[in-house]
Amino acid sequence: MKLSIVILAAGKGTRMRSELPKVLHPVAGRPMLQHVVDTASALSPHAIHIIYGHGGEQVKGALTGVNANWIEQAQQLGTGHAVQQASPQLSDDERVLVLYGDVPLIRQPTLKALLECADGDGLALLTVALDDPHGYGRIVRDADGAVRAIVEQKDADAEQLTIREINTGIMALPAKHLKRWLQRLENNNAQGEYYLTDIIAMAVADRVDVHTATPQRMVEIMGVNDKVQLSFAEREYQKEQAEQLMRAGVTLADPARFDVRGEVTAGADVSIDINVLLLGKVELGDGVRIGPNVVISNSRIDDDVEILANCVIEDAHIGAHCRIGPFARIRPETELAEHVHVGNFVEIKKSQVGGGSKINHLSYIGDSDVGRNVNIGAGTITCNYDGANKHRTVIEDGAFIGSDTQLVAPVTVGAGATIGAGSTITQDAPAGELSFSRAKQITIEGWTRPTKDTKK
Ligand code: UD1
Ligand code: CA
Repeated sequence: MKLSIVILAAGKGTRMRSELPKVLHPVAGRPMLQHVVDTASALSPHAIHIIYGHGGEQVKGALTGVNANWIEQAQQLGTGHAVQQASPQLSDDERVLVLYGDVPLIRQPTLKALLECADGDGLALLTVALDDPHGYGRIVRDADGAVRAIVEQKDADAEQLTIREINTGIMALPAKHLKRWLQRLENNNAQGEYYLTDIIAMAVADRVDVHTATPQRMVEIMGVNDKVQLSFAEREYQKEQAEQLMRAGVTLADPARFDVRGEVTAGADVSIDINVLLLGKVELGDGVRIGPNVVISNSRIDDDVEILANCVIEDAHIGAHCRIGPFARIRPETELAEHVHVGNFVEIKKSQVGGGSKINHLSYIGDSDVGRNVNIGAGTITCNYDGANKHRTVIEDGAFIGSDTQLVAPVTVGAGATIGAGSTITQDAPAGELSFSRAKQITIEGWTRPTKDTKK
């Protein structure tokens, strides 16, 4: 049977106290709704319908790679009313799975189990038993344990309020029944809303089987209504990712002080110290060691690289056996070949650095092509910007750049050239030669230091 997924995302989210629509608040850097859509897509449904209300354009614009059918629910008249908006798009030969844009941690295995607990004609409900069921719809069962109805907290009588089994809201059912039942919903209840949950009693009356399944983990069904719950969802998600990496063999100094906002792949014997943040797509080779307080985004780090404390690496490729930091900043479009050393307070941007080269102290290398086995002394600056345009600096193999040198681009330092310390190089420096630009040192003989005026 074909599967269509309806995601309810029209709620305003007043308790978030934010201009941003609730479902766009991020968990691990991705909007909550994106998590739900990604999980839904993994089930390969025939269609995904997203019911949106507040901030429609903003919500659509924020989701990436989503092939969904957007349906506006102009007024939020209840969960039943929300699903009704999708009714005209649902065909009788399909099954409908209802998900929520603010329940971001729901996982595919739980949804598969839900879909499998009922056959094509039955209704499947995801339920859990809670110690404190307050606020949720209660699952009412008869003496034989068969589900009879769902009663909302505000409509429940004293006895029903003692029921601990609650409705998570997530359910699957045949579209042909759903469409019929939705037409019969009424809003004569405590909240004056069209409750999706009222269809359960209709299913029972129509002798459609109602089955229940439970989630693998409790956090999967957790809804996010405020920033406290958002932070809880974030921690749970991070914990899960950290566990996955540790199971794959990564050593984490402290999984509670490690964050991934993206996708990480790691080779064997990778170790990661505390307060490390990995963003976007990060690939770590075998034996990579990452020190504390390091941020890496969208980068590939090859085998046996050591990244010392407090480095920031963005959109870069770090070759095998490199040693970076502490306190180095590697900016976008940087490629370091193997065995490169980059030391403290060095910034590298849009540059290639050849194998075995060293840039160990306090330097800025931007828009540069640095060859192999180059040694760049402390305080070297490539002056790549003339105030209007960027220019390239080329430093060929085996060159030695003395400390405190400015290389005014465009400029080339030839292979094996030596630049004397303290030079401002504005013209190409020939290969194999010593070049420097430096005022001659003079000594004034017999000069005496001024002494302090003591008369006053
Ligand atoms: C709902 C269920 C309740 C269940 C609980 C689980 C109903 C009537 N009740 O209650 O049984 O225990 O979820 O959390 O279904 N939404 C729309 N449009 C609307 C109304 C809601 O898109 O018109 C969306 C909300 O944004 C939210 C979700 O549907 O994501 C649930 O709505 P909410 O009002 O929070 O339902 P509850 O009262 O919590
Ligand atoms: Ca409500």
